[in-house]
Amino acid sequence: MEMVRACMRPAASASSGPRVLVLGGTGRVGGSTATALSQLRPDLNILIGGRNREKGMPLVSKLGQRSEFIHVDIRNSSRLKEVLEGEYFFWFF
Ligand SMILES: NC(=O)c1ccc[n+]([C@@H]2O[C@H](COP(=O)([O-])OP(=O)(O)OC[C@H]3O[C@@H](n4cnc5c(N)ncnc54)[C@H](OP(=O)(O)O)[C@@H]3O)[C@@H](O)[C@H]2O)c1
Repeated sequence: MEMVRACMRPAASASSGPRVLVLGGTGRVGGSTATALSQLRPDLNILIGGRNREKGMPLVSKLGQRSEFIHVDIRNSSRLKEVLEGEYFFWFF
């Protein structure tokens, strides 16, 4: 396994509910994690992060209204910083 990390930060706004970004969520491990998280915690807003929207959208549809796709390539450090701001995040790839 090259890298599996889990980090947590305070949510940006408690009123909008906890937001969890699963980086690598379009992949096998990240996708399974996002699915399990949504079943354990239906109150979470689960953001599926990756470079490929076409890979991410079927999962986003399956997870429902609280889920969305976030385009992020971690080689773009400014974009990575932007999307991590205020989110809880898990990183799988
Ligand atoms: N699958 C297993 O059974 C298994 C078992 C043990 C350990 N692992 C380890 O777990 C990790 C993930 O495995 P996996 O099978 O889930 O891999 P995978 O299906 O190939 O998924 C890789 C994920 O990483 C994302 N990704 C790769 N480069 C990226 C970048 N530059 N910026 C943003 N996202 C990027 C991909 O998103 P996009 O393609 O959308 O960019 C995709 O969501 C690997 O380290 C693997 O060795 C896997």
